[in-house]
Amino acid sequence: MDGKALAERVRKDVAEEVASLGRPVGLATVLVGDDPASGVYVRSKQKACREVGIEPFDHNLSSETGQDDLLALVEQLNGDEAVTGILVQLPLPEQIDEDRIIRSIKPIKDVDGFHPFNAGHLLQGSPTFVAATPAGIMEILREYKVDLKGARAVVIGRSNIVGKPMALLLLAEHATVTICHTRTRDLPAVVREADVVVAAVGHPQTVTADMVREGATVVDVGINRTDDGLVGDVAQDVREKAGLLTPVPGGVGPMTIASLLRNTVRAARYQSGELAFPLD
Ligand code: GUN
Repeated sequence: MDGKALAERVRKDVAEEVASLGRPVGLATVLVGDDPASGVYVRSKQKACREVGIEPFDHNLSSETGQDDLLALVEQLNGDEAVTGILVQLPLPEQIDEDRIIRSIKPIKDVDGFHPFNAGHLLQGSPTFVAATPAGIMEILREYKVDLKGARAVVIGRSNIVGKPMALLLLAEHATVTICHTRTRDLPAVVREADVVVAAVGHPQTVTADMVREGATVVDVGINRTDDGLVGDVAQDVREKAGLLTPVPGGVGPMTIASLLRNTVRAARYQSGELAFPLD
């Protein structure tokens, strides 16, 4: 499943939407510290913004930044009319309480969908902003007409960023969903039952060919830097078993960025009142 090609089409759509809004759209990205992988992700997001006519406002803070300074920055961005969306790149350094920061972002600017307000709306079946990685995966599955109704879906990983929202989105499409994690007993046996597997673990070779049913759809969320270069969570030999598979790179990654752009335009529509944001 070619996420890169689909993402290009989405970016074109978003560029047209931004142009037709007739007012500026801006995304503030906040990066704390110098984690090289996070730096790469944030720069890709900023570049994608520029390409579709969204103005990126980058904020790079030192790894020593304290909680109060970060809260003050978010507060300033919450009140800045030029800032349509706010993205604080995770993970944050250990002196900072990540949940506290996420809660400080104004829900109507929370384009990551991590604020409990937005995460709760997804849980209750009336999504507002949906986390970009799972939203992008759903778009890939739709594009390739993967039948989810009644399908057995296994999500490996239970993070707030991917695993949990992913499971909720699959459930909303009427899949029978199982979430696996580090304490799951006999992971291979559970995965073998799946029509759709989403691997979001952050560990190479987590899903191997012997665990995958012939013809299953396999989505690889992993981005692992190894001596062999960039690899996903799914072993190479799964290609022969899977009916459909997302490559790494070129699968989920580009669609994550495309979904973030979509969410940023959505934020602009909420803020103008063109779309109703459920605040009361
Ligand atoms: N870290 C890993 N993925 C993400 C994401 O989608 N958004 C943010 N803010 N941080 C991340």
